[in-house]
Amino acid sequence: MNIQSRTERMAGQETPERKRSGQGDAEMSLICLSDFEAYAKDHLPKATWEYYAAGADDCCTRDDNLLAFKRIRLRPRMLRDVSVTDTKTTVLGTEISCPIGIAPTAFHCLAWPDGEMSTARAAETLNLCYVASTYSTCSVEEIVTAAPDGFRWFQLYVYRDRKLSEQLVHRVEALGFKALVLTVDVPYTGKRRSDIRNNFRLPPHLKVKNFEGVFEEHCGPDNYGVPANTLDPSISWKDIYWLRSLTRLPIIIKGILTKEDAELAVEHGVQGIIVSNHGGRQLDGELATIDALSEIVDAVQGRIEVYIDGGIRTGSDVLKALALGAKCVFIGRPIVWGLAYKGEEGVRGVLQILTDEFRLSMALSGCRNVAEINRNLIQFSKL
Ligand SMILES: Cc1cc2nc3c(=O)[nH]c(=O)nc-3n(C[C@H](O)[C@H](O)[C@H](O)COP(=O)(O)O)c2cc1C
Repeated sequence: MNIQSRTERMAGQETPERKRSGQGDAEMSLICLSDFEAYAKDHLPKATWEYYAAGADDCCTRDDNLLAFKRIRLRPRMLRDVSVTDTKTTVLGTEISCPIGIAPTAFHCLAWPDGEMSTARAAETLNLCYVASTYSTCSVEEIVTAAPDGFRWFQLYVYRDRKLSEQLVHRVEALGFKALVLTVDVPYTGKRRSDIRNNFRLPPHLKVKNFEGVFEEHCGPDNYGVPANTLDPSISWKDIYWLRSLTRLPIIIKGILTKEDAELAVEHGVQGIIVSNHGGRQLDGELATIDALSEIVDAVQGRIEVYIDGGIRTGSDVLKALALGAKCVFIGRPIVWGLAYKGEEGVRGVLQILTDEFRLSMALSGCRNVAEINRNLIQFSKL
């Protein structure tokens, strides 16, 4: 299969500049997540690549998410019989094969024709948690049909028209999604310079499928596939009670970076927090997620589960996040790199590589299972 030409056709945007000489079905050996990144950069149309890669403003926070992991050093233990290792864990009581999940990211069909359906199948095969984005280019119904036995959460935004959010909540609850992930760091969309320069738009053959039929009449300014100013910037803590009144599903808040907000999250009765800065796409200059994790874990004192996303690219990043108290990590951009490579197979490749690396890091640090990973493994270096 010629992946390159498929991606071009499907994205319907400008032809990407070729840096690679080998065309078509490149016999590549992709052995780490940055290999998938390089492949995606070479093969996706420029505007699509830049949309996925973008950070806000100067991209300091996007880049610091990765650098912050490199500042942390590990203190491995030896002679602990690691002949058998087990990466299984649970999130909110459900068993998953490994503490690695798929963060919600928009527009998977820009990277592969059946986008989120491929993502869902890969997550189902590997028994990992997939958080489907509101801004999916397949509908929640299509996602469930593609992978009926998958373990899924749904990421939600709060709209000025509350009925929109309400209907989505009822839809995903009926479809068997197991939790709602309320994203709280987007009262407004961050300023992503490349998207402005590229005048980035969803190509006409793609839609934000969860809103099919909702904005048909609209002809004003568009913001990433939906009319501008649809998100409600007045959202506040009391809206957690409003959301609670709509559903019996667990509520997880995504986008918390401080112990003060973590305390408030516990007080407002949510079941989990995802420590996240939206991959550095919102407030540039805010702290790297791994640097925020410890104070949040300390603040919640085990009352709710804490997860993290942002800059996780290797198995030792996963180990560091778990050592600092995360129950599970989520990855964003690497999933679309996997899609750009080979759809479902590419996403499986990304997840399998990260799982294998995590297992190896566990063993090399003397941990036989996730319960043995703790803060004693961490040393903050002065680099
Ligand atoms: C292209 C792209 C689209 C995203 N779309 C969403 C979204 O629809 N909803 C959401 O809550 N977060 C969204 N995010 C943020 C991710 O959920 C996650 O926080 C971030 O990507 C994690 O960082 P990483 O990409 O370094 O792994 C998006 C991120 C990217 C890169």
